[in-house]
Formats: sequence, structure tokens, C-alpha cells
Amino acid sequence: QAAAMPLTTVTAYESLYDRLLLSEKDKGKTLLIINSAGGVGSVASQLAKNLGLKVIGTASRTETEAFSLQHGADIVLNHTKDLLPQLEAHGYKNGVEYILVNYDPYPYWDTIISAAKAQGKICLIVDSSGLVDIRQLKDKSLTLVSEMMATKIKYETEDKIRYHEIFEDVTRMFEAGILKSTLTKTMSPINAENLKEAHRLLEEKKVIGKIVLSGF
Ligand SMILES: *[C@@H]1O[C@H](CO)[C@@H](O)[C@H](O)[C@H]1NC(C)=O
Repeated sequence: QAAAMPLTTVTAYESLYDRLLLSEKDKGKTLLIINSAGGVGSVASQLAKNLGLKVIGTASRTETEAFSLQHGADIVLNHTKDLLPQLEAHGYKNGVEYILVNYDPYPYWDTIISAAKAQGKICLIVDSSGLVDIRQLKDKSLTLVSEMMATKIKYETEDKIRYHEIFEDVTRMFEAGILKSTLTKTMSPINAENLKEAHRLLEEKKVIGKIVLSGF
């Protein structure tokens, strides 16, 4: 269960706490997570929920919608359809305070700008497949931040110790049951056959949660 978590959890944690600067003072505010059923999304939704935020996710299949609801989302929108009318139908005509984009931001850019409330914050974690227009941020005084989990190591930043603090904090949260593992499948033993099968499943792009290989 622990092996399934580090990569997604560090990304989700840094996005929420260190980039969007969420804290308990944000209780009652709303975080929209585009692609909330994926690895990072399903941890970010739990972390945000724990801080008292309202979490709106997006998914497209009944199974991913259910997975997202089980991992902290209060509402799950259907991302195969325009998100704006769906947000409006849930009472978010003026947008949401925070948006975490766990997907290529390029096709979503106009939607993201419209869905952000004035003075809101947007965090990107996936490379954009095209150029986006940052001029659109100004009118609503929006803040755009990026998260890349290995930055502190790659650039030897002064706050590298932060990884230690994050792991301590999330370990506490897992042990207290505040966070649950997103492990959904374990394959054993660790051999070429299982490695190939696990990879084949991932390539189908239908896997929900994490696959772990265990035991030699
Ligand atoms: C999302 O919308 C698509 C297209 O209308 C539909 O096929 C799919 O079943 C919807 N998903 C959910 C979970 O309702």
C-alpha cells in the first residue's frame, strides 16, 4: 500500500500546500481538479477534503467517477462535455477559487480561465501540448503556478529538506486514516512476466488506481 503512493502523493502535496498555498484558512473554498480519478487527482482530492475544501472533480466513466467520489470528491463533472455549464448547474456561475489541472492544459485553457473565480489560483502539473495565452490571466488577476516533483533535487534547492517534511506529514496522515492508499491491484512475484502484464494493463489506459508488484 505504501509503495503505491510516493510519486503521486508528493506531487499532490506540493501542488496543494507549496504551490497553491492551501491551508485550513481555505476551509469552505472550492478546488476544481481536472482529472480527479488519476494518481495525483485521487490523492489531491483527499488532501483538499481534509483541509475542509469543497472538491469538484472530473471523470468520464462510471468507474472513474465512483473512484473519485470514494477519494474525496464531493461532485464529479463529466469531462467529455463542456465543464462550464456543469459548474454553473452546481452553483458555480462565478467560478472556483482553486483549479488543479492534472491533464494537458492546452485543450482546457479557455475553460480554466472561465472557471476560475476572480483572484483565483491555477496549478499545472502536465506539460502543455501547445502555447497558452497568459494574457488571459490579467483581467481576473489570476495566479498561475506549476508543479514538478523533482525540481528540488534537480536544482539542489535550499529547501530540499521539504521532501523529508512532506513524507513525515503524509506518513502521519496515512497512519491516521486521513489518507487512503490508491492501490487497486497487486501482482506477485516480481518477474518479467508480471512486469509485462502490468505494463500491458497500463498501456490500455483503463487502470484505475495503482498496480504494485511485490515479492521475488
Ligand atoms: C459522460 O458523457 C459521455 C458522453 O455524453 C457519456 O457517454 C458517459 O456515459 C458520461 N459519463 C458518466 C459517468 O455519466
